Amino acid sequence: MRRLIICGSPRAVGRSSALAWALADAYRALGDEVEIVSIASVDIAPCTGCLVCENNKRTVGRDPLYCVIADSMIRVRALLNETEALTVISPVYFSGAPAQLKAFFDRLQPYYYAQMFDQKRPVDLFVVGEGGDPHGFGSLVGEARSALAVAGFRLERVHDWVGLIGVDGRLLDEAGALDGGRIFPASAYLMQTPTGVFPKTREAAGV
Ligand SMILES: Cc1cc2nc3c(=O)[nH]c(=O)nc-3n(C[C@H](O)[C@H](O)[C@H](O)COP(=O)(O)O)c2cc1C
Repeated sequence: MRRLIICGSPRAVGRSSALAWALADAYRALGDEVEIVSIASVDIAPCTGCLVCENNKRTVGRDPLYCVIADSMIRVRALLNETEALTVISPVYFSGAPAQLKAFFDRLQPYYYAQMFDQKRPVDLFVVGEGGDPHGFGSLVGEARSALAVAGFRLERVHDWVGLIGVDGRLLDEAGALDGGRIFPASAYLMQTPTGVFPKTREAAGV
């Protein structure tokens, strides 16, 4: 199976990279072809919301995934399009993703208009953190689930490695990279308002 690992830390070497390398070894041992994209080593500017991509499909001769920002996303999109399964590793930054990884998520917006994948491909999200923060990482799970869904992926499992990787990158869980950590189905993380529906108007929101 062709597999892409996105390592979402802005630090090129740290807990996330250690897990990425251990996972790449584990997947390769299972026979997978593995590519790694380190967010620390690519240049992905934030989405500016210009919405030029909204017109891609209607514009003759234009790449359906065209974005006015020409940076590493061009190469990363090619890898995303080819992969059969995706692994995202992310540190928790105040319950969500680091800004650099969030920029990658937001730059998936051209896929929202392109609608080019009939079949959803599986995603595993590995969450890395020091622990001690009582607010968890529900926002990170929601951001990953929402953004990756438009690019033809389905978040299936969340692997909670918070507090389980030493500062030297050593995995403290004996079970190994793939089976270690605390593994939950992504459906365990609900991202809904109390009514279950995001209010579409100011009136409905009561503001
Ligand atoms: C701005 C910032 C916010 C953080 N917030 C959290 C947090 O909410 N929960 C947590 O467990 N760790 C938090 N951490 C710790 C990082 O998740 C931890 O240092 C992790 O090892 C970073 O990943 P890396 O080693 O791959 O760079 C935070 C770190 C930074 C820099």
